[in-house]
Amino acid sequence: MKRDFLTILDLSFEEIDALLRRASILKEDSKRGELKPTLAGKTLGLIFDKPSTRTRVSFEVAMYQLGGRVIFMSSQDTQLSRDETLRDTALVLSRYIDGLVVRTFDDADLQELARHAEIPVINGLTDLYHPCQVLGDILTIQEKKGDLKSLRIAWVGDGNNVAHSWINAAVRLPFQLLLACPPGYEPKEEILETAKELAGDRIFYGNDPLAAVRGADVINTDVWTSMGQDEERRERLAAFRDYQINGDLLRKAKPDAIVLHCLPAHRGEEITDEVMDGPNSAIFDQAENRMHLQRALLDWLLGV
Ligand code: CP
Ligand code: NVA
Repeated sequence: MKRDFLTILDLSFEEIDALLRRASILKEDSKRGELKPTLAGKTLGLIFDKPSTRTRVSFEVAMYQLGGRVIFMSSQDTQLSRDETLRDTALVLSRYIDGLVVRTFDDADLQELARHAEIPVINGLTDLYHPCQVLGDILTIQEKKGDLKSLRIAWVGDGNNVAHSWINAAVRLPFQLLLACPPGYEPKEEILETAKELAGDRIFYGNDPLAAVRGADVINTDVWTSMGQDEERRERLAAFRDYQINGDLLRKAKPDAIVLHCLPAHRGEEITDEVMDGPNSAIFDQAENRMHLQRALLDWLLGV
């Protein structure tokens, strides 16, 4: 039966663990130029409603490296733009391609495509979640910090799609997650409350960036204004003013803490140049690991 990857909660602890191990092995193989063409003859489709640099390019390169091909479609290029239904689109694409990555606004649209597709569907970001991002980030944390158990991971900023996937990751994996968001920009209540029921006091939510970052092993942030929210930019800039990752905040974390940002960054807003380009930043290794994680994901979901 086909498997989808729409949210981190679609995977068990054992599946996430196996995926991370496989990603590390394939990363080493790729550095030695020894990747095998396990997806030769397979085609991955990408339908994107929002811009992308990392997700698009890392999926495309990962697919090419495993011997497969890709077809990229902006949804404007497809008949979805002329009201063909998601169901019909999913049924037709399933006859042509072997897997589909979708980046869109409404998570319900992704779910509808996945429900009707006979091929694996992967979430390449919705307004609600960004699971590929967070699994890639966890690969980076494991590389830099080893065992996840007892790590303190801080999220400072918006309670957005990436934050939601971090909350789901904390349900499945044994780290502590401390979130600090401005009032009014907290994660969705049902996602946070469900996760807290499952993960207990390993997930802590508050409004104080200092409380989240104090003693942290990892500090994580993201843009204050996500794609689709540009009209709110002015009020968001004001609301998030005290949530910047700068040198003063970084010094409250452990001296060897790493800083993560999924990118794209608005330098000088949510993160300073000093931190982004400083010795604690793992941000560009993090971006690279998107490709290594997704290569393992494609190999698993699309491989025979
Ligand atoms: N982090 C991330 O998903 O980047 P893109 O929007 O460039 O794909
Ligand atoms: N929260 C951001 C992530 C971009 C990769 C957005 O949705 O725009």
